[in-house]
Amino acid sequence: MIKKCLFPAAGYGTRFLPATKAMPKEMLPILTKPLIQYGVEEAKEAGCSIMAIITGRGKRAITDHFDISYELEHQIKGTSKENLLKEIRALIENCTFTYTRQNEMKGLGDAILKGEPLIGNEPFGVILADDLCVNSRGESVLKQMVKLYNKYQCSIVAIEEVEKDEVYKYGIIEATEIEKDIFMVKDMVEKPDIDKAPSNLAIIGRYILSNDIFKILKDTKPGKNGEIQITDALKEQTKQGKVIAYKFKGKRFDCGNVDGFVEATNYFYNQKI
Ligand code: UTP
Repeated sequence: MIKKCLFPAAGYGTRFLPATKAMPKEMLPILTKPLIQYGVEEAKEAGCSIMAIITGRGKRAITDHFDISYELEHQIKGTSKENLLKEIRALIENCTFTYTRQNEMKGLGDAILKGEPLIGNEPFGVILADDLCVNSRGESVLKQMVKLYNKYQCSIVAIEEVEKDEVYKYGIIEATEIEKDIFMVKDMVEKPDIDKAPSNLAIIGRYILSNDIFKILKDTKPGKNGEIQITDALKEQTKQGKVIAYKFKGKRFDCGNVDGFVEATNYFYNQKI
């Protein structure tokens, strides 16, 4: 059972400056809902009830968002606006939110390692809230991955095919397809040059990690860009034949950049009308 989901949310979000100067990137809204709330809803649908959030300086708005706002709720009680808080109230009532800080931006691997006290000794999901995933035809992406975990009992990364000239932005896998859309990963490389990429299968911001990842991360040296990369730790797990890649059903919007963010906004707006 995957009960806990980790949300690394300590990055600076520099691509959205000045919007992210005093506001966390994860609180940028697609229509009226912040990115991180979409992520938490996805984790809840996947069966997680404990949301472990890695924050940093200037990220207090995230903690406040997943808490009751008595004055505001008192103010709108009995009006039609009360309805607008229904979804977030349901999350607050049904999930437990835990937090810790990453004091220095030392990379995604380091952010995940900071989550160890919140996760303890069990496998867990990871959602990068700036990768917004939807599946209008069925189960959420993390739920699809939890099902797969129940079968394979090892780390799982979500992947999608990207254009060849985009590989330098992602962790790229080398893998063999063992079932339709399910791959056994042999190797992976973080942000490779186009001519060095082993494929165009890119890891996106959804993972299920087996608990030994923490031990491996403790021994992982800074890699690409001087950061501790989760890709390098997963690469260690591949040596034991223990990483599955899954070409998920659904669509991902890269809301970490302006184009993807606008695309997601248009998609959700068109769904509404
Ligand atoms: P990104 O590199 O996309 O986010 O990291 P960023 O650094 O905030 O954005 P830019 O590039 O400056 O615009 C992917 C995810 O990993 C988290 C980020 O918060 C984001 O959700 N992250 C990254 C951390 O929590 N800590 C880190 O040290 C690095």
